[in-house]
Amino acid sequence: MKRRTAILISGRGSNMEALIAAARDPDYPAEIVLVLSNRPDASGLDIARAAGIEAEAIDHRDFGRDRAAHEAAIDVVLRAADIEIVCLAGYMRLLTPVLVNAWQGRMLNIHPSLLPSFPGLRTHARALEAGVKLHGCTVHLVTEEMDAGPILGQAAVPILPGDSEDDLAQRVLRQEHALYPAALAAFAGVAWGLPDEGACLTNPLPWQGPAR
Ligand code: GAR
Repeated sequence: MKRRTAILISGRGSNMEALIAAARDPDYPAEIVLVLSNRPDASGLDIARAAGIEAEAIDHRDFGRDRAAHEAAIDVVLRAADIEIVCLAGYMRLLTPVLVNAWQGRMLNIHPSLLPSFPGLRTHARALEAGVKLHGCTVHLVTEEMDAGPILGQAAVPILPGDSEDDLAQRVLRQEHALYPAALAAFAGVAWGLPDEGACLTNPLPWQGPAR
């Protein structure tokens, strides 16, 4: 049975698109049934709708500073849709315990660095500044501490001489698009191909059923 999966986005949604594309395969173990954005102008919403997926904005500005109320509204919609797994894909809001606790063990995030290196923002610029030779992306379970939950998979890329921040972002993003569908599939219950060189799955943790 395919796991009913929702994706939370804030922007262009290219990782969302990669998940939607992978989930079209009849053998893929997750079904993308809902896309939510905290920003009504997120271009990913239109992409999701064009793919025939229900997509809705829950604008954080409607809730003022009450982050918990915003997340409670998201949680209501997720539950109403019988969601089993939530994938954050470029969802650029720090989560409060409201969503984290409600979805602990069932919420994944993709982060553009090889965690635990470079949590937070500006990861590509910081990797260049630090002079590291290896960079990449990580899919992990979301816990209360930002970018620190159990790692489900990582994909590495080299940093090449003369790389700009944009060069690096594009190289990592290609890996993100391969890694996230593979990590979600492994989590949802089956192994799935990793078409791109450089990607590997570490510590795949299975989905363990609803917590409530
Ligand atoms: C991706 O690179 C993702 O890893 C990153 O935002 C981008 C979203 O792109 N996420 C974070 O930085 C989370 N802290 P997308 O909207 O095209 O998927």
